[in-house]
Amino acid sequence: MQVNTDTRILGIIGYPLEHSLSPAMHNQALKSLGLNYIYVPFQVERGFLPGAVQGLRALGITGVNVTLPFKEAIVEYLDGLSEEARACRAVNVVINGPGGLLGYNTDGPGFIAALKEAGVRPADRKAVVLGAGGAARAIAYQLARGGAREITFINRTVDKARDLASFIYIETGVKTRATGWGDAGISEVIRRADILVNTTPIGMYPHTQEMPPVRPEWFHPDLVVSDIIYNPVKTRLLAEASQMGLKTVDGVGMFVYQGALSFKLFTGKTAPVKLMREVVTNQLQEKHR
Ligand code: ATR
Repeated sequence: MQVNTDTRILGIIGYPLEHSLSPAMHNQALKSLGLNYIYVPFQVERGFLPGAVQGLRALGITGVNVTLPFKEAIVEYLDGLSEEARACRAVNVVINGPGGLLGYNTDGPGFIAALKEAGVRPADRKAVVLGAGGAARAIAYQLARGGAREITFINRTVDKARDLASFIYIETGVKTRATGWGDAGISEVIRRADILVNTTPIGMYPHTQEMPPVRPEWFHPDLVVSDIIYNPVKTRLLAEASQMGLKTVDGVGMFVYQGALSFKLFTGKTAPVKLMREVVTNQLQEKHR
């Protein structure tokens, strides 16, 4: 590729970034469409976030993804927020436009797009969300906006599940419930659910033998099981579910679609989703070689 004075700069802000799959995914996508952009990892140490944001303005950087640990912290330095970003108080895309720096959140919409690709729509569905952190909030908000009938949060710290449940109810009017891991009613909640999504890191590499404390015997044939972990692609939770013949949605889908929606915001073009998935899958395979 040829970098010249017309080249637009994109990137990702986070710390650490050594395992980030975004630069390869975006650069190959940009190249395949012949777009004169480059996507760079910007590893930012904690205290430098305000300076990094000023740098985006000073250097005329077109847009960036934002990842851990800055998704929430960056909000106060921006000039405006999309509706999702405002509701979730978290940003994973910043666009440097005529109105200044605008923050967006494509994590929740990325999850919904991955579900839809698998033929699953949230409308009128009962969902169970394992975990109550930032990812759970983004996903639950979109499930609610997509017309879910009820969302139950199961979390180790039950107070966080309660806070999130009331937040989602207040924002969207969708019925929510909250419970702790060990509670007696969990099996029944899962038996009645249509969609189960794990947003905790349980089962992530290298702890691939672990799974969240839900039992496969609570699953039923129409339950869709999804996991936002993408390393490994097939977590133990997903393996147990697919062994029982259940439909599963892996974390690569959500990752690729949050990237595809970011790409559209960065460039205005439809992202080459298939290629992006290939790049991510290849990178994940290489990691384990
Ligand atoms: P993110 O913003 O990526 O969602 P997070 O805010 O750290 O990350 O949230 C991770 C979620 O996974 C939390 O709900 C956390 O439970 P607590 O609220 O009790 O901290 C949950 N989690 C993380 N590690 C866990 C573990 N070993 N067992 C059970 N839950 C865990």
